[in-house]
Amino acid sequence: MPNAPDLVASDRPDIAPSPGPQDYVRGFTVGGQVAIERPFVLAPMSGVTDSPFRRTVQAASGGTVGLLVTEFISIEGLTRSNLKTAMRMAFHTADEKPLSVQIFGADADRMAHAARIVADCGAQIVDINCGCPAPKVVRRGGGAELMRQCDLLARLVEATVRAVSIPVTVKIRSGWSADSINALHVAKLVEDAGAAMLAVHGRTRMQMYTGEADWDLVDAVAQSVKIPVVGSGDVTTAQEALWRLRTTHAAGIMIGRAAIMNPWIFGQIDDLVAGRPMRHPTGADRLALLQDFRDRMADRMPEHAIPGRVKQLLARMSKGFAHGSLLRSHALRAQTTAEMFEWIEGFFHAADAGEIEHWAIEARRSSEDQPASQALPQPPATPQGGNGAGSDDFLPP
Ligand SMILES: Cc1cc2nc3c(=O)[nH]c(=O)nc-3n(C[C@H](O)[C@H](O)[C@H](O)COP(=O)(O)O)c2cc1C
Repeated sequence: MPNAPDLVASDRPDIAPSPGPQDYVRGFTVGGQVAIERPFVLAPMSGVTDSPFRRTVQAASGGTVGLLVTEFISIEGLTRSNLKTAMRMAFHTADEKPLSVQIFGADADRMAHAARIVADCGAQIVDINCGCPAPKVVRRGGGAELMRQCDLLARLVEATVRAVSIPVTVKIRSGWSADSINALHVAKLVEDAGAAMLAVHGRTRMQMYTGEADWDLVDAVAQSVKIPVVGSGDVTTAQEALWRLRTTHAAGIMIGRAAIMNPWIFGQIDDLVAGRPMRHPTGADRLALLQDFRDRMADRMPEHAIPGRVKQLLARMSKGFAHGSLLRSHALRAQTTAEMFEWIEGFFHAADAGEIEHWAIEARRSSEDQPASQALPQPPATPQGGNGAGSDDFLPP
């Protein structure tokens, strides 16, 4: 077996050096108009990626998220039935750039109208959802149903492109079901209809969120069209994000659930690209992030809406910590945001100080009179229309 130093590429001109992230991490442009400086995108997540969440992730990651995408917003809501809720969902601050607002529906004129509203709101990109698997969305012809209605999808994209001067992009799944995988066909169709970028979640509608995302298909789609393709599905770490970028022809990588568990992930990717040691958040960092999220929500939401969202984030962020489930059960029972934060603060301070066992003894003692709830707070488990604050609100009646 050769000595390790023998394999140093610089000493062996016959061995090509394996590419470093600087060689393949590069920005791209959407529709010749919107520069995406870093090819890592915060995925749209209904009930999760509202403005406070997006800004919290962007701040935690030191401004390194390449593109922010809103939750999906009903074109019916935006154009007639629920303008107030829809506008709340489209809300963003001036520093959220570049921002893509995602819309869903199945009527070409209405989609064009909704896209104009989105453009007037200051978004840089409008994205059409063709991937939502929720029955109440597909029953009305939107979301993943559009993968089965290709003529309608082409008309929707064409009408939307004609209606606005900002780029129109599309997010799809691999197909409706295992026996009707048509992402390659749909990619060409939306490119011909004028879409400026395509995101592909490598699962079928029927898979919902089970199984594994098919990155070979993402790669094949990326090779088949000229517009940038962003791959989505199951990226859980900074290293994996880089690996997917290096081993496929995707122009960008989308990160969804991993950004709830680890809102620092985009900054960690940036560390790896820059050759710095990757940042590892301490307990104090976690506490500060949750406080930041709370404060950003307090500017925009009633007090009663805040604890649920903090719990959603806490449930993911405390995974893997010793006694994380004890923290979650106490946080779930808290009556107010202030009480919840007392628990969170105590926990993360103890974690940093190496006193978590002592914290757990005290926490158990305090709950002896009042047994902890069995039901731990969970993040959204049935995405897109199934749960999560607001995900039902904007659906047409
Ligand atoms: C809670 C939740 C809500 C989602 N909502 C949307 C949505 O509104 N629009 C959309 O295009 N995709 C939505 N998705 C799909 C994600 O954007 C992404 O494609 C998928 O979760 C796979 O990526 P991941 O493994 O990185 O999470 C949602 C996913 C989750 C988990």
